[in-house]
Amino acid sequence: MELGEIRNLFEEWKKRVETSKDLEEMRQTFLGKKGYISQLFREMKNIPPERRREYGREINLLREEIENFIRQRGEEIKERELEKRLKAERFDLSLPGDTVLPLGSKHPLSGVIEEIVEIFKQMGFAVETGPEIEREEYNFDMLNIPKEHPARDMQDTFYVNREGYLLRTHTSPVQVRTMLGRKPPIQIIAPGRVYRRDDDPTHSPMFFQVEGLVVNRDVNFANMMFVLREFLRRFFETDVPVRFRPSYFPFTEPSAEVDIGCVICGGEGCRVCKGTGWLEVLGAGMVHPNVLSACGIDPEEYQGFAFGLGVDRFAMLKYGVDNIKLFYENDVRFLKQFKSL
Ligand code: DAH
Repeated sequence: MELGEIRNLFEEWKKRVETSKDLEEMRQTFLGKKGYISQLFREMKNIPPERRREYGREINLLREEIENFIRQRGEEIKERELEKRLKAERFDLSLPGDTVLPLGSKHPLSGVIEEIVEIFKQMGFAVETGPEIEREEYNFDMLNIPKEHPARDMQDTFYVNREGYLLRTHTSPVQVRTMLGRKPPIQIIAPGRVYRRDDDPTHSPMFFQVEGLVVNRDVNFANMMFVLREFLRRFFETDVPVRFRPSYFPFTEPSAEVDIGCVICGGEGCRVCKGTGWLEVLGAGMVHPNVLSACGIDPEEYQGFAFGLGVDRFAMLKYGVDNIKLFYENDVRFLKQFKSL
């Protein structure tokens, strides 16, 4: 057969191939060992030598054309056949799986508690816990707040209907439990939930505190200042200005409130710091001798310092959150902004 005839056959086939089976047949017919193209090459010897070169070139061109056609049509057919199969199958097992599961994120308060605990652990503190339904004795009396003492009014208490018990108003009763439980040296923090009858944009009836207590021989106010400064520096990740103001707590003497330079306005004065440039972040002091005695520790032999902080306040300051309620509504649009914690 001649090249022209084969080209015509090729054109005929082009119109006919529909399936991959057709296509395979076409490949055999034209490009197979006994196919038309091989035949053409075999007929080379009958071509006058001066035309052979040209003839060879023409066969190669045709072969290339056929190869390209088969490849291209092959892809189309494959796609069409896959589509057909997918339509026929109930389940498409070839689709990629759902690899991106909607992962949750750590609650910002959990993140901040972990951070605070980690910093104190690095400074040699152990972690203690206590019950949220607490004995009135531990929450008040043994912390040098006797019945009828006006200091009980500092904390509006939720009482439970069992005589002598309440929802702890602070984490300070963990101090009592720890000192009753073991001998100094003591160096602990106690994170946990506390409850007060309070409810406004900066107060929630349930919130989180971290208590700290160090008791040993020769523990002094300067040790306390160092520990708290160091903690604040690490937590806020800058050299925040820190000041200690004389204050009053029944369970410490002397007592101090600790302020940091306002992290919102940098000390200029703003709404958050009420124009003062300072934010109160901690209560602290030297453990009152009455507290040590009540817990069976000789105040002549041992001294201690203690401190308490509100986790919610630390979280609000660190992340610029202006309403404590956001931490307790659990709106995912709020929570997912803390994915990196
Ligand atoms: N218990 C106090 C409160 O809830 C915070 C506090 C202040 C704890 C001074 C302390 C402390 O241990 O020494 O307001």
